[in-house]
Amino acid sequence: MACCLESALLLLLLLGSASSTGGNRCVAAAEACTADAQCQQLRSEYVARCLGRAVPEDWSGPGGCVRSGCRRALRRFFARGPPALTHALLFCRCESPACAERRRQTFAPACAFAGPGPAPPSCLQVRDRCERSRLCRPRLLAFQASCAPAPGSRDSCPEERGPRCRLAYAGLIGTAITPNYLDNVSARVAPWCGCGDSGNRLEECEAFRKLFTRNPCLDGAMQAFNPLWPSVLQDWMKPYRNTGHCFPQVSSMSVLTALALQALL
Ligand SMILES: *[C@@H]1O[C@H](CO)[C@@H](O)[C@H](O)[C@H]1NC(C)=O
Repeated sequence: MACCLESALLLLLLLGSASSTGGNRCVAAAEACTADAQCQQLRSEYVARCLGRAVPEDWSGPGGCVRSGCRRALRRFFARGPPALTHALLFCRCESPACAERRRQTFAPACAFAGPGPAPPSCLQVRDRCERSRLCRPRLLAFQASCAPAPGSRDSCPEERGPRCRLAYAGLIGTAITPNYLDNVSARVAPWCGCGDSGNRLEECEAFRKLFTRNPCLDGAMQAFNPLWPSVLQDWMKPYRNTGHCFPQVSSMSVLTALALQALL
C-alpha cells in the first residue's frame, strides 16, 4: 500500500504541472491502454463481447453481439480499468472527423448504444427502464447529482464537480442509459433515445435528454479532462507501467481512488 500512496501523491504533483500536446489524442489513449496489461485485457473482453450487430439474448448462432453481455463487459471496463486510461479513451479531445469517428466507435455503439431498430426508443421509456433497475438507478441518480446544473441557475456548475461528473458519466456506459457521441463533427453526447413520441410529456422528456445534449456542467467536465491529459497519460503511466505490483492495487480500487484523489484537486 505504501507504494500506492506514493504513486497517488506523485499523481497529485504531476497533475499540477499539466501542459498540452497535439496529435490524435484518441490514438494516444488507445496506445496507452494497449500498453497497460489490465486496460488491454478488459478492453479485449468488451471488444470480443460487443463485436457485430445486436442479436437476441437467446441467440445461439455464430457472430452477433448479445447486448447484456456486451454491456456487462463495458461496465467492467470502467469499474476495473485504471480511470486515467479509461477516461482518456472516453474523453479524448478530437480535432478531425476521423478522430471523432474513432472516439464515437470506441465503446461499441452498434451493440451497446444504438438499435435494435433504426429509430431510437423514447427517452422516457429508457429512463423508466433504468429507474426500475437496481443496477442502473443509482448510477442515474449519481449522474444527476454530479452533472446537473444547480437548480435555478442554468450555467452554475462548480468546477470542482468535474471529476465526479466524469466518473458518473462513465458509470452510465453499459446501462440502459448508455450515452455516446452523436456524430463525428462535434463532441455532443446523448443516450440512444428520442422525444418524438412523448406527446404531452414532451417537456419532461426533453428535460431528461438535455441533461446530456445541452448541459454546460457535463460539457465543462468533459472538456476539463483534456488539460490534465499529458500528466495522466505520459508522466504518470510511464514510470509505473512496468512495476507490476503497484498498479493493479490502484486499479482494483479505481473508483474509490479516483474519487478520493479527485476530491482533493
Ligand atoms: C462521419 O460521419 C458521417 C455520417 O455518419 C460518415 O458518412 C463519414 O464517413 C464519417 N467520417 C469519418 C471520417 O469517418
